[in-house]
Amino acid sequence: MNTSLSLAELIGERVKGLQEYAPEPMEQVATRLNLPLGQLIKLDANENPYGPTKHTLQILNGHLDYHRYPDAISRRLRQAIGHYIDMDPAQIIAGNGSDELIDLVLRLFRPGPSGGGIGELIDCPPTFGMYQFYGTTNDLRVTTIPRLADFAVDVARIEALCAENPVPRLLFLASPNNPDGGVLPDADLERLLELPLLVVLDEAYVEFGASSRVKWVAERENLIVLRTFSKWAGLAGLRVGYGVFPAALMTALWRLKSPYNVNCVAQMAALATLESLDEARANVAKIIAERQRFLGKLREIPFLQVYDTQANYVLCRPQGVATETIREAMERRGIILRYFNSPGLEGCIRFTVGTPMQDEAVLIVLRGIAQGGNDGH
Ligand SMILES: Cc1ncc(COP(=O)(O)O)c(C=O)c1O
Repeated sequence: MNTSLSLAELIGERVKGLQEYAPEPMEQVATRLNLPLGQLIKLDANENPYGPTKHTLQILNGHLDYHRYPDAISRRLRQAIGHYIDMDPAQIIAGNGSDELIDLVLRLFRPGPSGGGIGELIDCPPTFGMYQFYGTTNDLRVTTIPRLADFAVDVARIEALCAENPVPRLLFLASPNNPDGGVLPDADLERLLELPLLVVLDEAYVEFGASSRVKWVAERENLIVLRTFSKWAGLAGLRVGYGVFPAALMTALWRLKSPYNVNCVAQMAALATLESLDEARANVAKIIAERQRFLGKLREIPFLQVYDTQANYVLCRPQGVATETIREAMERRGIILRYFNSPGLEGCIRFTVGTPMQDEAVLIVLRGIAQGGNDGH
């Protein structure tokens, strides 16, 4: 039957400007590069090369209750997280990755037809793209205050914006920041919390050496901290993160959260990780030690400007060598990296810290390029 609806024309304007997020699957990369899948060295997504703990894998293998819905409010997991971060589980919400919690915060404050809400989000790129993405999809105005050349947050400009027009705003900041790995200093966070802002501090990578500000949530009414099991705990594929929120927001957040948002496998895996913290922490320690070794070796490559990092990745800016040359040489060896070209990141490359063997493969290619085009073949 023919309807008079022209569906494509009815789609909201904000959706038309969005880009589909669909990174190339590794099987396809292997085919494109004509290499066996097992030969790829995947260092593009800040994943943990060691994966979950043995205890976590054992627990997952023994689980049979897939036909039951999970605990809708992740009680046992939130209890264990509370213990892990020494915070009240009543102020913790688990999510389908911390991505879901970014969206949840924005859905909470999106302005509605009947009033209320926060109409504006401040985004400080270069940074994680999801703040801008979820800001746009939730109809908030996204105001961009770019980071300074060294990727520090331009606190003075944010203060000036707030002084000029002191309306409530949301501010999303990652610390360590993705993609550079730099940390927001305590003093900067103090200044920002003095402003009429709700600050969402994304600590996805904090376990890799920076100190967490999660305890500040207990003393501040305008700070939210987001964390995740994707990176340090090696559970990226299961999607489990959490947020620590001011007490005043909890009732509204519980009302708004999707039911059964964290599946039973993800809840069990995160809980099992917290039951085998020594092993998870040993993996993190290996990654930190390897990051320091890798950083030192990258700094010996003459054409790379290497940024300091507190995360499980290293951002580099090649000087005088085309990114495409590096990409081709890396891909010939099956090495997959993250290449940027957005403002402030022109030509930059981000290397996830892998195992020492994986990182050695990267260094061989880089040394080959430095020696005049021979990439180790
Ligand atoms: C800064 C930052 N925050 C959040 C996330 C998303 O984490 P999750 O896997 O918990 O959704 C990432 C993932 O890359 C990230 O880089």
